[in-house]
Amino acid sequence: MVEADLVLEHAEELATPIGEAPRAGRAQGELRLIPDAAVAVSGGNLVYVGPSRELGSRVRLRPGGTRLDVTGKTILPGFVDPHTHLPFAGSRATEFEQRLQGRTYQEITAEGGGILSTVDQTRQADPGDLRAASLGRLDRMLALGTTTCEAKSGYGLSLEAELKQLRVLRSLAPDHPVEVVPTFLGAHTLPRERQVSREEYVREVTEEMIPRVAEEKLAEFCDVFCEEVAFTPRETERILEAGKRHGLTPRLHADQLSPGGGAELAGRLGAASADHLEFVTDTGIEAMARARVTAVLIPGASFFLMSPDRPPARRLVEAEVPVALATDLNPGTCMTESMPMVLVLACLQLKLTVAEAITAATLNAAFSLRRADRLGSLEEGKQADLQVLDIPGHHHLVYHFGVSHVNTVIKNGRVVFRKSPVQWAFS
Ligand code: NIG
Ligand code: FE
Repeated sequence: MVEADLVLEHAEELATPIGEAPRAGRAQGELRLIPDAAVAVSGGNLVYVGPSRELGSRVRLRPGGTRLDVTGKTILPGFVDPHTHLPFAGSRATEFEQRLQGRTYQEITAEGGGILSTVDQTRQADPGDLRAASLGRLDRMLALGTTTCEAKSGYGLSLEAELKQLRVLRSLAPDHPVEVVPTFLGAHTLPRERQVSREEYVREVTEEMIPRVAEEKLAEFCDVFCEEVAFTPRETERILEAGKRHGLTPRLHADQLSPGGGAELAGRLGAASADHLEFVTDTGIEAMARARVTAVLIPGASFFLMSPDRPPARRLVEAEVPVALATDLNPGTCMTESMPMVLVLACLQLKLTVAEAITAATLNAAFSLRRADRLGSLEEGKQADLQVLDIPGHHHLVYHFGVSHVNTVIKNGRVVFRKSPVQWAFS
């Protein structure tokens, strides 16, 4: 008999991937499904996950504990969003309007808009405003079932402005339940003042920024935008190697706009992830499979850019590359906090099954953030991060699209979001 502070019982279905390792190939699509399911939580961790009928003989609710009847609902792990550009200031709604009128992202970038426009706004922003904007985005994530997200700097592109973004990220934890995993992306693009001296900027990133970020323990990962319009594979390698020497695990924006050798490099460096991959090559896929690099796919970006380019999700699964899914939340190429939206696009456009997409948005994403020992699945011993959805089974999350099904979100054993009574009145 175990004791619990919180019990949920009579879920129509509980659906979860299993394990602490990434799930690739056929295993990507295998979920454990428990009908009439219950979970019990003690001290933030799951102490029981199984059929409701065995709950009584296995679990005793402590006096003052909470029992929730979730009849008719589905329990999933909280989503882990492994790629966001959370701490940015301002918006690019005007550029979006221009794109709707036929201008391309590349044209807008060439005229000084794009990433550098957000860099200008973020450099000018007061840290308090940057923090408030980030908290608002975390609220929207949580309301859509996300309990952990990665978050990148990369709109500072100077030592001080990059540190400002990362310090804002570090300041969020006491005020928000969504767990934020920080990544240093000083090499997002060349800042305006360094357009003619890339070598100087690469040196600034490797010799000044990375040591300082590491010294202040402001990031766990180092990311580079490896692309013709940003950094070459050689520069990317130098930057990520410098990050590694300072304890930052590499991840990459790879092969997003052209086949640039990013996936091959990710394999060689043993990166945690290679992200985007619209133009990944067969040798890139092989290199990733060999080194167990997670492919973080971002169907929202090509959708939002109205681009026909899609990453070869089926080929990645068949090659046994663990596939994860992310929003890429950013003001230029994917302005959304919604993982449910990403799952819909992953199924309808990238042809993942619903089960594969759920594994991608939970366990495989957690693995790419080096947290699969604790997060990403609902199993006894793991942290109690879960979402209760007003649907009768996991398929309905994608089948019934464009609306939120989130009823309750639990992070680290605490109820941190409930659908509001106003919404109840209309449901
Ligand atoms: O992930 N690829 C580079 N960076 C972002 C775009 C950021 C922006 O446009 O502000 C991305 O798509
Ligand atoms: Fe990105």
